[in-house]
Amino acid sequence: MKITVFSGSHKGREGNTILMVEEFLKGAEEAGAETENIILAEKDIKSCRGKFECWIKTPGRCTIRDDMDELLPRFMASDIVVFACPVYFDNIPSKMKNFIERLAPVLLPQFEEDETGEYRHAKRYEKYPKFVVISNAGLPGQTNFEVERPFFRRLARTFHTELIAEIYRGEGEVFRGQKNIMLKPLIGKYKKLLRSAGKEIVENQALSEKTIKDLEKPIVPPSLYIKFGNEEWDRLIKECQNE
Ligand SMILES: Cc1cc2nc3c(=O)[nH]c(=O)nc-3n(C[C@H](O)[C@H](O)[C@H](O)COP(=O)(O)O)c2cc1C
Repeated sequence: MKITVFSGSHKGREGNTILMVEEFLKGAEEAGAETENIILAEKDIKSCRGKFECWIKTPGRCTIRDDMDELLPRFMASDIVVFACPVYFDNIPSKMKNFIERLAPVLLPQFEEDETGEYRHAKRYEKYPKFVVISNAGLPGQTNFEVERPFFRRLARTFHTELIAEIYRGEGEVFRGQKNIMLKPLIGKYKKLLRSAGKEIVENQALSEKTIKDLEKPIVPPSLYIKFGNEEWDRLIKECQNE
């Protein structure tokens, strides 16, 4: 089984999302998957020009020449594609949105009615990769994903596939405290859960109810996160002003 992650943090390899991805992939690899983590921040992905050229002029191929030339075949050759990104102002970051818009060539332009009576573009290919989403937000709580949740569910429908797992982590900045003696075991417990999730996805193409529930539990109580988080903001601002 081939799992490809498209990581959409603007911070690339420096971010919090990537820590989640790495643990998830460790579990998936232990269960026998072949994995790849593509960092969108390291790629040249220009904006879609919106002219439908990939549907009319050069069917199935975008007329823009950039790194999407190699990313699209890697997307289509995957059994599972993971969209991994932080929340930016309640939504996905522009790098991820830009990448998703450039997926247009894998669909056909023609409209069709789906099994629920809604409309979408028809398939260009017989089979599309299944989707997983991994996201984190700086604020605590699951409500930060109120836009991403329906978005990724609908995106799976648009791309003729299923969203088989959603891993949403509030208080994502907690990962920066990995070395803190109090946080280390709590983060360690969450990382173990991510590895289990990776394994379950390979073995069952789904997460168990227990794993879903455990993954959504706060790593630290929100009131503590807010208190220490604000102290950290103040410290960082002071440190910067004293430089
Ligand atoms: C421009 C910008 C907007 C953000 N908007 C939100 C937001 O709406 N809600 C939230 O909880 N966190 C928000 N965050 C915080 C990030 O989600 C958080 O720092 C996350 O851990 C970053 O992940 P990364 O290190 O993988 O980039 C925002 C961060 C930036 C830079």
